[in-house]
Amino acid sequence: MGKDEDYSVKLQLIDRQRLPAHIAVIMDGNGRWAAARNRPRSFGHRAGAEALRRCTEICRELGVASLSVYAFSTENWRRPADEVSFLMKLLIEYLRQEVRTMNEQDIALGFLGEREGLPDAVLAALDQALAATAQSRSMRLNLAINYGGRRELALAARRLAEQAVSGELNAADIDERALAAQLFDGGGEVDLLIRPSGEQRISNFLLYQAAYAELYFCPVLWPDFGKNDLLDAVIDYQRRERRFGNIGQV
Ligand code: FPP
Repeated sequence: MGKDEDYSVKLQLIDRQRLPAHIAVIMDGNGRWAAARNRPRSFGHRAGAEALRRCTEICRELGVASLSVYAFSTENWRRPADEVSFLMKLLIEYLRQEVRTMNEQDIALGFLGEREGLPDAVLAALDQALAATAQSRSMRLNLAINYGGRRELALAARRLAEQAVSGELNAADIDERALAAQLFDGGGEVDLLIRPSGEQRISNFLLYQAAYAELYFCPVLWPDFGKNDLLDAVIDYQRRERRFGNIGQV
């Protein structure tokens, strides 16, 4: 069976009424993909950006409301300087190029992460893309850049403490909802968290939001992750019973 045939067969297996509303992806394996081709890591990251375009397109076609992708973590600053600067350049290029397609497809951009520490040129491209796509309603693509789940929680705790100190908030009113309201905008509850490349870790991504996410791991390296792989993940998700701590159907 050809890839396209395979795709239409898989598509029929999907229950459109039970789609994951929020899919998160740890886009892993770019470096290994490039090394297998004797090419520099930058080649893998570029192919990774292509895979993100494909994944966004299929999520939109399916009707997934939000896609959040881990593009650059707070730990990624430890990478060699030339790789960090290449990734920043690639992000700027991506943001500039994607605005038109995102507008045509009615996709809004979201940003998860800390602005502080990001180069001005990245912030400028980000702000421009955020503003240009703010009216889109079909889907939201959240880019996690300079993102760390622990950092996000620490910042939220700091803001709540500030509010408590100023008398704006009662310490006794700090609960899960109050904490969630201080997280980066657009994260929301994750339904399905996908990590390709064979690694089986969460790596500090959406720690709070993924508390009840269904986890899906697959061996394919991110640059090779195609529409069939995304459908496989959604089909697998739909076969699971989500109990959220309850006992499920009896
Ligand atoms: C992990 O693979 C990937 C990253 C740290 C960067 C993710 C970036 C992209 C997918 C492309 C750029 C994204 C945008 C939005 C333009 P790795 O480098 O750790 O791979 P490895 O584990 O095989 O070394």
